[in-house]
Amino acid sequence: MTYLFGNWKMYSTIAESHTLIDAIATMPVSGDASVAVFPNPVVTQYAVDKLTDHDTAVGAQNVIWTPQGAYTGATSAHLYAEMGVTYALVGHSERRHIFGETDEDVRKKVAACIDAGIIPVLCIGETKEDLDQGKTEYRLKKQLQKALDGVSILTDQLIIAYEPVWAISHGGEGTPCTPEQAATAHAYIKKEVATYTDTHVPVLYGGSVSPTNIASYLGFEEVDGVLVGHASIDADAWKQMIDVVTNT
Ligand code: PGA
Repeated sequence: MTYLFGNWKMYSTIAESHTLIDAIATMPVSGDASVAVFPNPVVTQYAVDKLTDHDTAVGAQNVIWTPQGAYTGATSAHLYAEMGVTYALVGHSERRHIFGETDEDVRKKVAACIDAGIIPVLCIGETKEDLDQGKTEYRLKKQLQKALDGVSILTDQLIIAYEPVWAISHGGEGTPCTPEQAATAHAYIKKEVATYTDTHVPVLYGGSVSPTNIASYLGFEEVDGVLVGHASIDADAWKQMIDVVTNT
């Protein structure tokens, strides 16, 4: 199975998102590929309605850990599940670094997703500072430990996204991590995750993935798929990447 996930962040207007969703509804996905989009919450219901019975699943960009209650502005994994959402990003570096999400928040969100029947896509990755100090494995180990300790994971209940913070594009050209670097990190993540669960946990690479470099990542067996940010909001680029994953 090869995964192609698109994180739309807050890039598009509602009208642009609707146009993109309508275009994606006309893009068949064949072969052993799993394709999902993570639209902004204001268009999630539209995406679910349009893409139901279609080959593309819908994910949430963020959840809160408690099902319901006095949490102004929050949306729970349980509410997303009710909406028909399949996946949720948890611990994206923008949530950690811009919104101050802690490792404990991340752990509670992973557990809440599993409880709600949503598959968490746990995002982990080292900063530039970690990289420069040779602390990549240390950071990945810590983030995994804090997110997964005490959480019971059964088959098909978890996906990991390795997203080196320094490689994320922030809306334009980024500095992609080399496919070799990504594969090395993925091998380490897989070894670490095996200490938490016996089940196969797919590991996706994210950070400046585009139609021109996607195949180079998927060429490594350690890389089960990709989480694409900026390039995922362009319908032509998305179609090209679907073609790559369906032929991998
Ligand atoms: P990018 O974003 O592809 O724009 O680098 C990836 C992500 O943040 O998920």
